[in-house]
Amino acid sequence: MNARIEALKRQHNALILAHFYEDGAIQDVADHVGDSLFLAQMGEKTKNPVVLLAGVVFMAESVKILSPEKTVLVPDVNAGCSLVAHSPYEKYLAWRREHRDAICVTYVNSSAEVKSITDVCVTSSNAEKIIDAIPAGRRILFGPDRNLGRYLSKKLGREMILWPGACEVHILFSARKLFMLKSEHPQALILAHPECDETVLQFADVVGSTSRLLSEVEKNTSVREFIVATEPGIFHQMQKARPDATLIQAPVEGSCACNECPYMKLNTLAKIEHALETLKPEVRLKPQLMVQARTSLERMMAITRGDSVTWPKTFEL
Ligand code: 13P
Ligand code: SF4
Repeated sequence: MNARIEALKRQHNALILAHFYEDGAIQDVADHVGDSLFLAQMGEKTKNPVVLLAGVVFMAESVKILSPEKTVLVPDVNAGCSLVAHSPYEKYLAWRREHRDAICVTYVNSSAEVKSITDVCVTSSNAEKIIDAIPAGRRILFGPDRNLGRYLSKKLGREMILWPGACEVHILFSARKLFMLKSEHPQALILAHPECDETVLQFADVVGSTSRLLSEVEKNTSVREFIVATEPGIFHQMQKARPDATLIQAPVEGSCACNECPYMKLNTLAKIEHALETLKPEVRLKPQLMVQARTSLERMMAITRGDSVTWPKTFEL
């Protein structure tokens, strides 16, 4: 454990949350490591007045929106997400207005502004439960990740109007190379995040959120080789859980190391230390925006807990 970070954490009564895509050294200083849903739940539940979220900014914004009284820190404000960049508010609003009777389901990988015009958020670990809670007769708009939307639509048999966004990291995995790799490792199980293209997902034995993929490695002890089509930060926990397992990174087209999320990888231990020292950068959102964005996150949390919710009949804005 990093002694300076530990001392600063105690001084400010701070909680450190880290996503599975962070470097192993960052995961090791965190109080909790998890997927985007788990981090939002931990951030909301904690009594600590200061939360540092080592992940991407939309994850820290979710914590702030759900608990505006907390000081929420990020190591680097530039830790964005291509899905956020691909779903600007004005265009998303125009899309919503074209389909006023539909329920708008938005992946948490979105801006607070987009959440403010969303009926319900989802993460990749609760999306099926949330979509199943939408009355059968209602039309569904799903954004901003078209691959997750297409996967859910097929799996659940629900028609959806999809926003054309994608994760710049996950779309790089190559179905052609994955097919060849599998023939070299016929015993390996292929694990894929649903942000991958459908040509990659068709070869996957397990499709799921980062925590679902980790639990497969943890629990499926009859398998010793896994080909993993998601960001390689997850290997840290997978290898800890199964030191005996061989983990193989799914291949990308070309020879770059671009399966690493450049935004997640902006965070460093030095930046975490600096944020805890200065209590900056802090997530700051307008109070009115937080109120408007909270409804979609709270509806998601309620359905995830198993509570029933009501749905707006039409989009009024
Ligand atoms: P998870 O919710 O599965 O952790 O995914 C978040 C993400 O950004 C994947 O690229
Ligand atoms: Fe966004 Fe993709 Fe990075 Fe996840 S991996 S944070 S979806 S850019």
